[in-house]
Amino acid sequence: MHRYFRLSLVAAALGFLAQGAVADQVNVICSAQADWCNMISTVYARTTGTKINVTMKGSGEALAQIIAEKENPKTDVWFGGTGDPHLQAAEQNLSLEYKSPTLPQLHPWAQQQAQQSGYRTVGIYSGPLGFGYNTELLAKKKLPVPSSWADLLKPEYKGDIQVANPASSGTAYTMIATLVQLMGEDKAFEYLKALHRNVGQYTRQGTGPIKAVARGETAVSISFVHDGPGEKLHGFPVETITPKEGTGAEIGSMSIIKGARNLAAAKKFYEWALTPSAQEMGAAAKQYQLPSNVATKIDPLVPDFKKIKFINYDYAKYGASAERKRLIAKWEKDVNSLPR
Ligand code: G6P
Repeated sequence: MHRYFRLSLVAAALGFLAQGAVADQVNVICSAQADWCNMISTVYARTTGTKINVTMKGSGEALAQIIAEKENPKTDVWFGGTGDPHLQAAEQNLSLEYKSPTLPQLHPWAQQQAQQSGYRTVGIYSGPLGFGYNTELLAKKKLPVPSSWADLLKPEYKGDIQVANPASSGTAYTMIATLVQLMGEDKAFEYLKALHRNVGQYTRQGTGPIKAVARGETAVSISFVHDGPGEKLHGFPVETITPKEGTGAEIGSMSIIKGARNLAAAKKFYEWALTPSAQEMGAAAKQYQLPSNVATKIDPLVPDFKKIKFINYDYAKYGASAERKRLIAKWEKDVNSLPR
């Protein structure tokens, strides 16, 4: 009898634990690089005891999944990736309005991202678009370092430039939106057609091209420049530069999904991700975006924004659903369909 009693206590405790584990879990889509996503997952689980399931997807693919799950969301939080698709999710009522008490501690650009979305997303990091290049490969091919958008059209770079596909990658969409704002739409599409002739490959993910640069498979990439130092630290001959005509920057964002099954856990994770200690994990995972919390320590490898010529990127306009869809469809039809 005594033994039976003990066993049932153990069974009850196990049942409670099992229930607790189910109640305290969070499902996250992570659109940053794998090292960062994995670090977040390990540290969050260890320090909070929360079960965290992380799926990795590029920004455009993440948005497609969230749209597909609309009736029955399986995702609680979407962490990272460029801001434009997060704004599109907000506009399409796919993300939840949530005004974090931490907002006043964030940089103005991160707060603006929240305001512009009706508080359905928030900026977690920012980073400039530019070029990555392989110093050894350029030297071997006797090619100069490209320093402008115009340089990328030179015939000597034919087949040696990689950029991602804007349908799946937020990085590539940031490039299109940047060029349209820099040159006007007609000239930007003429430019993209000319660039197409020099592109060796369009990759699915935004980081594909700079990784190809690192491996020496292509000489030049169009990439976020904060993705360069990590490759260099891994021992690859990678440098970055921003184009002298001016460039755009992403506002990497985070959103809670509307209808999230684990809403309390989602908010807990969201608040954690806005803390300086969580944001410092980016640099710990060799990711050098500028963090959005003003109190987060800035790693010396984070690009110096003051030295870069930026356009005044209109996040609201280029994050609007219709505009993003229209520009990507136009790129597919007018650019990607052309022979190379
Ligand atoms: C990399 C960058 C991030 C960026 C992301 C976008 O992970 O480090 O800053 O937000 O790419 O990914 P995507 O595949 O959508 O271009």
